[in-house]
Amino acid sequence: MRNKVSKAIFPVAGMGTRFLPATKAVPKEIMTLVDRPLVQYAIDEAREAGIKEFIFVTARGKNALEDYFDNAPELETKLRKDGKTELLETLKSTNMESGAIAYIRQHKAMGLGHAVWCARRLVGNEPFAVMLPDDVIAGDRSCLAQMVEAYEESGGSMVATMEVSPEQTKSYGVLDIDESDPTGDDRLMRAKGMVEKPNPGEAPSNLAVIGRYILTPNVMQNLNKIGRGAGNEIQLTDAIAAEIGQDRPVYGYKFDGKRYDCGSKAGYLEATVAFALANPELGDGFRDYLRQVVAND
Ligand code: G1P
Repeated sequence: MRNKVSKAIFPVAGMGTRFLPATKAVPKEIMTLVDRPLVQYAIDEAREAGIKEFIFVTARGKNALEDYFDNAPELETKLRKDGKTELLETLKSTNMESGAIAYIRQHKAMGLGHAVWCARRLVGNEPFAVMLPDDVIAGDRSCLAQMVEAYEESGGSMVATMEVSPEQTKSYGVLDIDESDPTGDDRLMRAKGMVEKPNPGEAPSNLAVIGRYILTPNVMQNLNKIGRGAGNEIQLTDAIAAEIGQDRPVYGYKFDGKRYDCGSKAGYLEATVAFALANPELGDGFRDYLRQVVAND
């Protein structure tokens, strides 16, 4: 029996400079799509995948995240007194069972690989998920749940992947697929290499890594050893690629769903529009409003 994936690491230490000045005071992960912060979307997706322990790798200036997942007794008492049961219900998804959430500080900004490595003692000798809350994935089924299901069959390490245009590959980790080793599952591809942010013309494919990972504990060992990579940072991509060199399987999983890059202003706006349109209370009115805006443009 394979070990269950019950722990997820959420690297949230980044400074969010692309959203300054907003992120001077508000962590980027608390920025809101309609009525929920980005991080809530990732937590909901993780819960649907069976994750029980949530490990946040934070940094200075991220206290709002800890408050967000804490109880809010005054607020709850007031809502109860006012009979606002629906709002009370909404707050429930922000509450964590005691001991289910942990915060680790990344003291120096040394890259995504380093941030993940900071959580090594909490992960121990189990497979674990990594979720980047900037990548919001909408769909009928949690992307991580799809991956956990595939992982239960395949084992190994797995990254979510999707096709991007050749001009975009330089912004992502990019997979080199082993065509000679089909998995029998259309969504699952065995990788023979992975490159972080390849120079134009050097990308092995246009399959980009998206911020959902299921990793074996050995990836933490690799993170212990690898040096700095692209952008002079410790790269998670390099530690996963090292698995392939050690004859351990690495897979790309083409998830079902639409991914929004909420780390960029354009992607964040697209997500806001999409989630507003999909919202049962707001959708119809907002659609009419958008039609008017476009017609008058
Ligand atoms: C990170 C990873 C990269 C991945 C991307 C997905 O990059 O290093 O491999 O493709 O997330 O969003 P970042 O966007 O933090 O530069």
